[in-house]
Amino acid sequence: MHEPTTIRLRNCGKTFADGTLALQPLDLDIGAAETVVLLGPSGCGKTTTLRIIAGLEYPDAGGEVWFGDTCVTTLPIEQRGVGMVFQSYALFPNMTVSENIGYGLRVRRVDASTRCRRSTTCSR
Ligand SMILES: Nc1ncnc2c1ncn2[C@@H]1O[C@H](COP(=O)(O)OP(=O)(O)OP(=O)(O)O)[C@@H](O)[C@H]1O
Ligand SMILES: [Mg+2]
Repeated sequence: MHEPTTIRLRNCGKTFADGTLALQPLDLDIGAAETVVLLGPSGCGKTTTLRIIAGLEYPDAGGEVWFGDTCVTTLPIEQRGVGMVFQSYALFPNMTVSENIGYGLRVRRVDASTRCRRSTTCSR
């Protein structure tokens, strides 16, 4: 299992193929096991930032993503060990918020008490 690690974005901007500047170059430091909330108006780049961290998008040239001391900028999503709950689709309507968040851990056969502990919304 992956231990909590720091996440650092350095100069991570995103311009899509159609020319849309989705994200101004961003520096962001997240501590190990720290909870961070991104707040901002619609279209300001919150989802794009999460997708860059997960590896679903790559930042523009010059941007870097670091997990601890490891540069993961060019690492594909399946090698990053990141879970992502999507905004409006790919949620399981029959599951609670906590179960949706913990689903990736269940697929990895992480035991129920560990899943509960690591799903921060868990109220049990
Ligand atoms: N694949 C794409 N191609 C072109 N433009 C895109 C693409 N994905 C997002 N955008 C644009 O990039 C900008 C940032 O989008 P993003 O989804 O990151 O915003 P957001 O902060 O998550 O917004 P919301 O609060 O509505 O979820 C928006 O102008 C959006 O239309
Ligand atoms: Mg969004």
